[in-house]
Amino acid sequence: MDQSGSRDRTAESGFALRPVYRAEDVRAGLPGRLGEPGHYPYTRGVYPAMYTRRPWTMRQYAGFGTATESNARYHQLIEAGTMGLSVAFDLPTQMGYDSDDPIAHGEVGKVGVAVDSLGDMRTLFDGIPLDEVSTSMTINAPASVLLLLYQLVAEEQGVSGAQLTGTIQNDVLKEYIARGTYIFPAAQSLRLTADIFAYCRTEIPRWNTISISGYHMAEAGANPVQEIAFTLANGVEYVRAALRAGMAVDEFAPRLSFFFVSRTTLLEEVAKFRAARRTWARIMKEEFRAKDPKSWMLRFHTQTAGVQLTAQQPEVNLVRVAVQALAAVFGGTQSLHTNAYDEAIALPTEKAARLALRTQQVIAHETDLTATVDPFAGSYAVEAMTDEVENDVVELMAKVEELGGAVRAIEQGFQKAEIERTAYRTAQQIDSGERVVVGVNRFTLANEERYEPLRVDPHIEEQQRERLARLRSDRSDHEVSTALDALRRTAEGNDNVLYPMKNALAAKATVGEVCNALRDVWGTYVPSETF
Ligand code: 3HC
Repeated sequence: MDQSGSRDRTAESGFALRPVYRAEDVRAGLPGRLGEPGHYPYTRGVYPAMYTRRPWTMRQYAGFGTATESNARYHQLIEAGTMGLSVAFDLPTQMGYDSDDPIAHGEVGKVGVAVDSLGDMRTLFDGIPLDEVSTSMTINAPASVLLLLYQLVAEEQGVSGAQLTGTIQNDVLKEYIARGTYIFPAAQSLRLTADIFAYCRTEIPRWNTISISGYHMAEAGANPVQEIAFTLANGVEYVRAALRAGMAVDEFAPRLSFFFVSRTTLLEEVAKFRAARRTWARIMKEEFRAKDPKSWMLRFHTQTAGVQLTAQQPEVNLVRVAVQALAAVFGGTQSLHTNAYDEAIALPTEKAARLALRTQQVIAHETDLTATVDPFAGSYAVEAMTDEVENDVVELMAKVEELGGAVRAIEQGFQKAEIERTAYRTAQQIDSGERVVVGVNRFTLANEERYEPLRVDPHIEEQQRERLARLRSDRSDHEVSTALDALRRTAEGNDNVLYPMKNALAAKATVGEVCNALRDVWGTYVPSETF
C-alpha cells in the first residue's frame, strides 16, 4: 500500500506498479535516455516529425480462398482507405507445399490465400500497381520463393525491383519458438536469410528483408519483456548470420524491421515500444558498431492482441481493439493492423474488417494524436516503466546469451518453456477470476446472440488442383527440371540461391517444387526432445 491506501499492482511483465508515480521514481539522466525524436536512441520515435508529417501505415492482414477472392478483398480494402497490403497465405503455402500435395488436404485456402505458382501471384495482384503500394507478406520458410514471385509479377507490370517496397516476414527463428511453420534446419534457414539480405540489397534495395516478430510469442503467452527480449535476441542472431556471410552491418541492418503485439495494458505497452527502440539502437550502435543511423532504428509493425479477443459478446472486442490500437500509436508504430471484432470466432466478415480499419481512421483523423510526437515523454509513470522494461529485457537477453545465443537457447527449449510458464500463470489467473476478462469471467450474458461467421468455399481445393494440373500440362517439363537441378546444385554450394530460384519460378516451377528441391539438399528441421 502507498500513503493513500491504494493497492500495488504488478505489470504484465512482473515488475511492481506504483499507485502514484512521482519525479523521484524516474532515474536521473532522463534527457540522455530520451534524445530527440528521430535521433539516437530513438526512445521518442524513429522519425523527427512522426505522425505530424504522415500517419502510420494502416495495413490490414487479409487473404483467404483463391487468389481471385483475395484480390477482390484487397481492392475493397484499398477502396476503404487502407494504405498498405498485408498478405495472409494458407498453411500449405506457408509450409512450402502445393495445393495438390496430399499433406495439404483440408487446409487449402483456409487461413489465407493459396499461392502455388506465378499464375496465382499474378491473379492476386491483378489491377494493383506494385510501384504504388507497399506489400507485406507473412511468409517465413518459403519467404524467398514468394518474394521472387512478387518480383516476377512486378516485372510483368513494368515495375523494377528498385521501385518495389514491402516486407517479407522471413523470421524462421520465432517459427521454431512459437509458430511452427518451419521447413529447414536452423543453419540452412540462416543461410537462406543471409542470401535474401544480399539479394535484396542488390536487386530490391527498398525492401524490408525481414520482420523479426514478437507477436506470435506474445500470442503463445509471452509477457511484454519476454516478447521484446526473445525478439531482439533473434534479431542479434540474424545480424551475426549476415556478418558471418560476409556482409557489412550497414549493408543490411537498415532494412531489418520488427513486429510486435499491442495489448490492452496501454501504459506498459507504450513503455515496451519505447524501451524496445532504445535497446535495439544501443545494440546496433555499441555492439555491432553500425555507423548508419538507419541501422540503429527499430521500425516496427503492430497487430492488436488477438489472444485478448473473446468469442463471448464479440462486439466488446471493438472496444478492446481501440484501446490496443491507441497503445500502438502512443508507442510510435510505423504500421498497424487492427483486428476485426469477430476474429475470435472465424475469418472476419467484410463489415467487421471495415470497422477494424475505421478504428484506425478515427484515431488518425478525429483525435489529436497525430498533432504531436510521443506525448507520453516525461510522464513519471511511463518513463519509469520504460526503464523497468528496458532493464528486464537486457537481463533476459543476457540469459539467452549465456545459453549460447538464440539458436542454442531454442535447441535447449529455453524460450518456449519460459513462454509456457507465463501462459500457464495467465490461464490460472483467468480461471480463478483474479484477472478480469469482461464477458468471460465477469459481466457475462446468460444468452449469447447467434453469430453468422464467414465460411470459406469448400470447393477451393478442387479449383486449385485444377489450376495446378493445367499449369503442369502447359509448361516445359525439361525447362523446369533443368532449372530445379541448377537450384539444387547452388544449394549444395555457397552461392546465392535466389538467382537460380527465380529462374525456376519464371519457368513455372511451383512453390512446392522449389521447396522440395531445397528439402532434397538441406533436409528438414526436427524439434529437439525438450519440445
Ligand atoms: N518522416 C519522414 N519519413 C517518413 C515518416 C516521417 N514522419 N513517416 C514515414 N516516412 C517514410 C519512411 O521513411 C518510408 O520511406 P522509405 O521507404 O524511403 O524509407 C516511407 O515513408 C514508409 O514509411 P515506413 O517505412 O515507416 O512504413 P511502412 O509501412 O512502409 O513500413 C515497416 C513499416 C514496419 C518498416 C514494414 O516492415 C512493414 O510494413 N511491416 C508490416 C508487417 C506486417 O504487416 N506483418 C503482418 C503480420 S501478420 C501475421 O504474422 C499473421 C499472424 O500469424 C498473426
